[in-house]
Amino acid sequence: MRVARRCYPSRWAQGSFVACCLSLCAASSLLSCPSLCKCNISSLQVDCSGRGLTSVPPNIPQDTRTLLLLNNRLSSISGKAFSNLSSLHRLDISNNFLDQLPSQLLSNLGNLTELRLRNNSIRSLDRDLLQGLPLLRRLDLSLNGLSQLPSGLFDDLPTLHWLTLRSNRLQNLDRVTFEPLSNLETIQLGDNPWECDCNLRDFKHWMEWFTYRGGKMDELQCTLPKDLRGRDIRMVPVEMFSYCSQLDDENSPGPSDKPGPPCTKASPAPLEPDPGLDCPQRQRYRPASVRRAIGTVIIAGVVCGVVCIMMVVAAAYGCIYASLMAKYQRELKKRQPLMGDAEGEQEEQRQISSVA
Ligand SMILES: *[C@@H]1O[C@H](CO)[C@@H](O)[C@H](O)[C@H]1NC(C)=O
Ligand SMILES: *[C@@H]1O[C@H](CO)[C@@H](O)[C@H](O)[C@H]1NC(C)=O
Ligand SMILES: *[C@@H]1O[C@H](CO)[C@@H](O)[C@H](O)[C@H]1NC(C)=O
Ligand SMILES: *[C@@H]1O[C@H](CO)[C@@H](O)[C@H](O)[C@H]1NC(C)=O
Repeated sequence: MRVARRCYPSRWAQGSFVACCLSLCAASSLLSCPSLCKCNISSLQVDCSGRGLTSVPPNIPQDTRTLLLLNNRLSSISGKAFSNLSSLHRLDISNNFLDQLPSQLLSNLGNLTELRLRNNSIRSLDRDLLQGLPLLRRLDLSLNGLSQLPSGLFDDLPTLHWLTLRSNRLQNLDRVTFEPLSNLETIQLGDNPWECDCNLRDFKHWMEWFTYRGGKMDELQCTLPKDLRGRDIRMVPVEMFSYCSQLDDENSPGPSDKPGPPCTKASPAPLEPDPGLDCPQRQRYRPASVRRAIGTVIIAGVVCGVVCIMMVVAAAYGCIYASLMAKYQRELKKRQPLMGDAEGEQEEQRQISSVA
């Protein structure tokens, strides 16, 4: 209202018509509320819960801090649905029917601190979905159909404190995926069909390290193998996994994967130590920073190699050119008419005689 009153006809005549209209349009888009939603101007909250929505309403005010889309019938979301909401702090899309999320869905939400996707039908996540969320603290992915997580999914979440993956279809997890979550305090992993075999061994080590540094986690009960069913994997002694290192060695006969001296040296006991379990960080475990460093080294190597080859080629070209020119000059001299040479000789003789 206040903005509209500023647009007096006299001013329009003075030429500020365009500027005034633009500001009016901008202001009205900030103040308007999507028809099916309730907007609280003071808390900048837009509540579109329980409206039977099948798509995200357009024109959500750009300065919205909290957007609630719970209990609707959303089965897909366009990649641009939230692209104007860079001020968004909390986003809750729980209790819908989402199964696939576009990889760029959250890419403009640099202020997001809380994301709730509980109770949907999400079966897989794009590796890049959570990139560009430097302030995210809480992430709820519980009650979905996730059977695995792409490695690299959590690489750029330095502030994540709380994560739940309860009630999915996870059978095992990769330690490398969770390694970058250096500020994680609570993780919930219960109610998944965990297979407590070699594939979960490295993740068991991560969980032990996580609880050792004060992290909280719920029960993680094995579903398979049968003799471990119902047991919490953290209570399963490491000796149960000692056969895994033998399997590793059989499966990868490469020389670099043999239990090397660094693993066996650590234990002074005369007993044969278990190389796989005493040394869980073998070659395969590489956190994001190491992977990036390796990439940099490879690129630097390639660039240096190319420069070296170019220098060698240039040097060879120079040498060949120089020798060809020398040869050419020699031949040119040989072919010169004898007259010129005779004159030269006469000249020399004259000089010699004058000196004498
Ligand atoms: C709007 O949000 C403020 C702060 O959270 C709250 O005190 C107020 O009751 C809300 N107003 C309405 C109409 O819900
Ligand atoms: C985002 O803002 C632009 C320009 O204000 C507008 O054209 C577009 O419709 C908005 N997108 C959504 C999804 O609201
Ligand atoms: C999950 O969402 C569906 C559909 O919105 C709802 O009917 C159901 O009660 C929800 N379940 C839980 C456990 O929240
Ligand atoms: C966070 O929100 C503010 C406005 O509330 C905005 O100016 C800023 O660009 C946002 N930051 C990011 C990283 O999107």
